[in-house]
Amino acid sequence: MAEIICALDFENLSEAENLVEKLKGELKFFKIGLQLFIRYGPEAVRMVRRHGAEVFLDLKIHDIPSICAKAVASAAETGSFSTTIHIAASPEALRAASAVRKSSGQPKIWGVTVLSSAGAGDSMQAASDALSCGLDGVVVSGADLKRVKESFPNLECVVPGIRPASYSLKDDQKRVLTPSEAVCCGADYLVIGRPIRNSENPLETVKEIKKDAGL
Ligand code: C5P
Repeated sequence: MAEIICALDFENLSEAENLVEKLKGELKFFKIGLQLFIRYGPEAVRMVRRHGAEVFLDLKIHDIPSICAKAVASAAETGSFSTTIHIAASPEALRAASAVRKSSGQPKIWGVTVLSSAGAGDSMQAASDALSCGLDGVVVSGADLKRVKESFPNLECVVPGIRPASYSLKDDQKRVLTPSEAVCCGADYLVIGRPIRNSENPLETVKEIKKDAGL
């Protein structure tokens, strides 16, 4: 069963906590990205965990292998459920990161495949690299999801750019899927930010998304 991850892309921790409080009865996963983490650090992760939810700490790590490994070790100390590394960092960096994840048991490591400006062929190569280097999954665009999941069924697919039919804006997302399309194409985790955050009633929006997607 796919899970929804609500992106907490806020300036302030109090705004983020406000949304977590509203949604925690319906959602188990929240994403903390660079905006909150650079400002508040591990306190942002603790805030979500205090509410009984899990954290996708979207660090988009990209560095030399030893530093990637240490960054994953630090992410593990925060108690985060998952984090991200750029697949372009190098196979050695991916293997070093996944070795830390395997020895500490957490966090799951999802590889960032390609920027939305690149082609689908690059996504397939990136997914293949992710699998061979021991990552848990990949962050993949809606356009490439079906092909990646069919070719690599054992890789978890984390999909941003989700837009419910009732939300007409694409914002800055180039390739969007509805929640039910994403589930049909094999998404394991749906990352949804603005359609929930900008809603007048985020809880109702989450309930509608879950119902539409059969979650
Ligand atoms: O739903 P919304 O467009 O607001 O979600 C944006 C979130 O998805 C951001 O937190 C962003 O980091 C994340 N994301 C993305 N595209 C990617 C990877 C992650 O938009 N390729």
